[in-house]
Amino acid sequence: MARYLITGIAGFIGSSLAHALVDQGHEVCGIDNLSTGNLDNLADIRHAVDFQEMDLQDVSGVQAACEGIDYILHQGALASVPRSVKDPLTSHESNINGTLNLLIAARDAKVRRIVYAASSSAYGDQPTQPKQEDMLPRPLSPYAVQKLTCEYYIQSFYRAYGLEGVCLRYFNIFGPRQAADSPYSGVIAQFTFKMMAGETPTIFGDGLTSRDFNYVDNAVSANLLACLAPSDVATGRVFNIGTGKSHTLNEVYAAIAGQLGFTPKPNYGPPREGDIKHSLADITRASKELGYQPRAHFHEGLKKTVAWYLEEKEKNQTPVLKR
Ligand code: UD1
Repeated sequence: MARYLITGIAGFIGSSLAHALVDQGHEVCGIDNLSTGNLDNLADIRHAVDFQEMDLQDVSGVQAACEGIDYILHQGALASVPRSVKDPLTSHESNINGTLNLLIAARDAKVRRIVYAASSSAYGDQPTQPKQEDMLPRPLSPYAVQKLTCEYYIQSFYRAYGLEGVCLRYFNIFGPRQAADSPYSGVIAQFTFKMMAGETPTIFGDGLTSRDFNYVDNAVSANLLACLAPSDVATGRVFNIGTGKSHTLNEVYAAIAGQLGFTPKPNYGPPREGDIKHSLADITRASKELGYQPRAHFHEGLKKTVAWYLEEKEKNQTPVLKR
């Protein structure tokens, strides 16, 4: 049994990690400033989690939170490409200053390892597919720059201070508990939510934009593997966490509409600023070095996700769905 600190624990991926670790009998601590996270995501495991409402930039708070921790799963961030395009300073403060503060605290508390939620957006308009970790990053949005900068910080803290760090470049993660209530929510959450409300979603661009959509259980397993992988293969390194398959927005729309029995055709709008056209992961490195296998496939994950949104609506206890 180990003691984990999850940053952004009340968020979508953070809370999914917390559920998995509690199920496995680990000690789980978590911090979240609740700016985009929601404590309802932890409702059924709240008794088993040592939670503190805290911003990552709170120097003394984060120092105290790192005391006695074995592994940090660093998910806390102000996510979203368009949010960062609109307000780069706020997302910079949260994503970069918050991470640097956490790294200093982790170093001083002699945390065993930090696993960082990096982003596939780092590849930007790098034209070659699939994306391999050794490719030169070409970030397009402030969000991508921030996520990439933190990868470099993680690597430098390993080289300069010996703090073990692993960067997981998430491709588009989706699943239950992903917030659906904001224009900054992930596309699968937004499409599902809108169709359930009888509204026709808008596809930005021609619908042929594609993403490597990865069900959240796969990201959870990647984090757990990254904590336990031997130091010489994992630390200071970057790993793609995708599936190796991509789907277009037209396919995503059709799949969700099919599950919900939603018949209207999509609206199409102009492409979104800062977006890239295609994104597909080469997962060879994560498979070989971490033993990562994306066992949950797209359609199966989508089925579970849509079912979860429907259940939440049914229960009429719909914090993540409220607008
Ligand atoms: C990006 C990053 C991802 C990161 C995420 C954080 C890339 C490849 N991926 O995802 O690593 O974790 O930001 O938020 O950069 N869309 C519509 N209609 C909508 C909403 C979205 O067509 O109503 C489109 C977007 O324009 C985009 C696609 O759906 O082309 C996916 O968007 P989104 O779910 O926001 O994720 P990314 O921006 O791809």
